[in-house]
Amino acid sequence: MRVLVLGSAAGGGFPQWNCNCDNCKGLRQGTLRARPRTQSSIAVSADGTNWVLINASPDVLAQIAAHPELHANQSIRDTAIRAIILVDSQIDHTVGLLMLREGRPLEVYCTAAVKDDLSDRNPIFVVLQNYCTVRWHPVPLAPASPFVIPELDGIRFHAVPVPGKAPPFSPHRAQPHPGDNIGLMIEAADGRAVFYAPGLARIDNTVAACLARADFLLIDGTFWTDDEMIRRGVGIKRAHEMGHLALAGPGGMLEALSRRRARTILTHINNTNPILNEDSLERRQLDQSGIEVAYDGMVIEVERRRSAVETPA
Ligand code: MLT
Ligand code: MN
Ligand code: ZN
Repeated sequence: MRVLVLGSAAGGGFPQWNCNCDNCKGLRQGTLRARPRTQSSIAVSADGTNWVLINASPDVLAQIAAHPELHANQSIRDTAIRAIILVDSQIDHTVGLLMLREGRPLEVYCTAAVKDDLSDRNPIFVVLQNYCTVRWHPVPLAPASPFVIPELDGIRFHAVPVPGKAPPFSPHRAQPHPGDNIGLMIEAADGRAVFYAPGLARIDNTVAACLARADFLLIDGTFWTDDEMIRRGVGIKRAHEMGHLALAGPGGMLEALSRRRARTILTHINNTNPILNEDSLERRQLDQSGIEVAYDGMVIEVERRRSAVETPA
């Protein structure tokens, strides 16, 4: 099984179009050692031919263009993307659906809560009925049994309800419901698993069990501190108000990750986050803890390592 990081930034991307914070300005001016990043999305495949897109970011067309493995040429109009899973109904994870309207019906896997948001307050599904149409597949919430996707043989998905926030336009914004936000435990045929959770507000018992079980974590690294947006003078919202647990400090994400055994990669990085600066102290702290920062184009190979020397039969 292979995981392809298509976009590793939070909503707005990096640099953000209207932002002059030290990171965005430094990247634009070439004075900062950092990589530009598009908005949060991954693709997963077991065979390298059939792919599931997990989240459809506003940058999806550029992301597809950058990855020939997502193209297909069996017929005059074709794609290697067989289905789309959404982890929430946030703008940065869903607006890209509109960019995929020229194709066959979109096979979209998400919870009822996400489907409701995308049928009502931000009616992307309704709009798309006039183009390619959407075929909605409800995902069962763990501990219910995992779900599979036709043509993605050998991959099982567990939708894990996680503490987070529905988007500002959702009727659930102030009244969280299970299914507003999910993490995905993505399990290969050999049992190895990736836990993907780009939005995570708190580590409850269910999430803690996922952190302990997974072999790979691709996890919310949006903000370094809870007051990062305020400190940088770019906003008034705190990380937890937006559904993200900050990395640093007591009770932060890094503390929760210190007990893990998995290979750990942070993603959904906001453009204000100091870890984007490869020369920052914060980035060095991650390096010293063996924690990686996802970048666009990163490939994660999920398979049991064969021993270097095969024993003759
Ligand atoms: C979030 O996760 O809070 C989003 O990145 C916000 C957005 O897309 O505007
Ligand atoms: Mn987001
Ligand atoms: Zn910025």
